[in-house]
Amino acid sequence: MDPRPSISVTHSGRGIGADVSGVNLAQPLSADQVRVIKQAWYAHYVLRFRRQRLTDAQLVAFTRNLGVLDVAPKRSATATFDTPESDYVLTISNVVLDGKPIGELGDSEAFWHQDMTYHTHPPVGAALYALELPPSGGNTQFCDLYRAYETLPPELCERIETLGCVHDITLDSSGRLRKGHVPTTDPRNAQGPVHPLVMVHPHTGRRHLYLGRRPFAYIPGLSLDDSEDLLNQLWRHCADPELHWTQVWELGDLVLWDNRCTMHRRDAFDSATRRVLHRTQLTSD
Ligand code: SIN
Repeated sequence: MDPRPSISVTHSGRGIGADVSGVNLAQPLSADQVRVIKQAWYAHYVLRFRRQRLTDAQLVAFTRNLGVLDVAPKRSATATFDTPESDYVLTISNVVLDGKPIGELGDSEAFWHQDMTYHTHPPVGAALYALELPPSGGNTQFCDLYRAYETLPPELCERIETLGCVHDITLDSSGRLRKGHVPTTDPRNAQGPVHPLVMVHPHTGRRHLYLGRRPFAYIPGLSLDDSEDLLNQLWRHCADPELHWTQVWELGDLVLWDNRCTMHRRDAFDSATRRVLHRTQLTSD
């Protein structure tokens, strides 16, 4: 008999988000444990595992249970000091050592986004593990894009059914210009792939919105005014707190999200404090 305690999944009660307990992610998982975690992930979209103690290698091994790992995105020009054990681990941090940031996103607010949808094949999911945290601030909110779609007025659902949107690459989610890109002022000149505004999740068969990020988004085929107006309606709808679940970080938390049917943002925090998290991401599941 398997001596490991059985996994339990406790739903947040908000439609999105669940706590998973009874599993030590530092150890190899059984096929049954992986099956339960995957089912919970598809049912609740964001999972939180508390009180974990993981090396980068263990974080990578855990993520690999869920699908095919993506190499961590190339770090910004200035972020070169950190040396995580693996090419698959991205550091999210405001810490600066010898004048060089050890990671991404700094300490300012990170606005609502889905990760890397400015690529043709964005990651399907990501895991974020907390190593150092500020005493307050820096919490991460997730938005349920299934429910966002399902609660749209029917005429809006119909209108966006066959429309796509350009997912602009120029700014990162804290609003900084990405290396090698020229700032754009007109969304019609946005650089990035077109993704449908409505997608069907391959594992659940449910429809969800797919918005990426707001700055310089553009709906090809519409006038700039019509595109702005339609996108503003969709983004206003997603601002409804009923669609959100907030992760208030504790040390040792690992949060796993589905990057298709959720988006996330992060609160700012005091720049005099340290926040260090390690992220892995999945190219497919
Ligand atoms: C991210 O946007 O991937 C990081 C979110 C966070 O820092 O909490």
